[in-house]
Amino acid sequence: MSIAPDSIAKAAQGLNALAKQYDGNGESERAEQLYRMAAELELSSAELQDCWGGPLNGQVGRQAIFVDVVGRIRPVSILETGTFRGITTQWFAEHFNGPIHTCEKERMFALEAAARLSRFRNIDLHVADSRQFLENALNQHSEHDPLFIYLDAHWEEDIPLREELRLIFANHPKSIVAIDDFQVPTDFGYGWDNYGPGKSLDLDYLKGVIPDTAQIFFPTLPSSDETGAVRGLCILATELGENLKGCPLLCGARFDEWQRVRNSPVSDLRQQLRSSEERLEVITGERDARLEQIHKLTELVQDFEAEARELGLRMSSLKQSMHT
Ligand SMILES: C[S@@+](CC[C@H](N)C(=O)[O-])C[C@H]1O[C@@H](n2cnc3c(N)ncnc32)[C@H](O)[C@@H]1O
Repeated sequence: MSIAPDSIAKAAQGLNALAKQYDGNGESERAEQLYRMAAELELSSAELQDCWGGPLNGQVGRQAIFVDVVGRIRPVSILETGTFRGITTQWFAEHFNGPIHTCEKERMFALEAAARLSRFRNIDLHVADSRQFLENALNQHSEHDPLFIYLDAHWEEDIPLREELRLIFANHPKSIVAIDDFQVPTDFGYGWDNYGPGKSLDLDYLKGVIPDTAQIFFPTLPSSDETGAVRGLCILATELGENLKGCPLLCGARFDEWQRVRNSPVSDLRQQLRSSEERLEVITGERDARLEQIHKLTELVQDFEAEARELGLRMSSLKQSMHT
């Protein structure tokens, strides 16, 4: 019997929560046992492990961007925040031979990632908060080292992204920084994270955080041609911005130039179009659900009528037999 991935995830979350309580009480051995049980449970479900359609959210367009960018800048190392189950980390290791430093704050996910990534000698996995991890990892590199940094540790109230960016651009101008779940100002078909006022991952979020000289790149591939989860991406570069200029998969400009694009009437119309498309999807969904209900009701009425006819026939044959 196969068990639904949701049930497995719920059970693992329960064990994980219990482990954290033991951790909080200083009972680290018991906590570790429970973290391991939770991780093993999650690892037993292929569906859970294959969430979001694969590496880099299963986005083939994004995978092509990374291959191209890494080829152009030849980074000394890749740094990643938000390892999760290590699916994207594994893909990095399959496409890059240099050191890959990655961090995950949840012990349960880190254990799952460790199991998945154990055969790669070039992966250095940390269980840590991304800010602390980045500070240490950046300190291990010279300011002249080209680095490729993938920031994906945002999915809760506490979003470390601004601090991550400040840490990176303070001393490492040769970094190329890719941010997952970021609004693409020319294509709202790409999804992005919005955690409320001041916490939407869009151009405004970067104001005063990245250097004025930074070039900001977005994918040129239309979202309708992207595969997988179709999440937005933004790539930031300062000193190495010129290296990315020839990349046909990316379109780059400075912050103020992108702001002009975003504030143009065309962008407004684009947003209206997107909202209408979303509304249409909802209405179509509601219409299909109603049609389904009508279809079921029609079947019920037909069954009822057939039964009534059958009863009528039986009653008249009964009456006949009573008269004879
Ligand atoms: C969206 S998932 C990352 C997905 C992963 N990069 C992939 O492609 O499969 C976000 C992960 O970041 C982790 N996370 C959230 N905040 C963090 C923080 N401050 N430091 C480190 N990891 C964090 C979460 O526990 C979660 O596993």
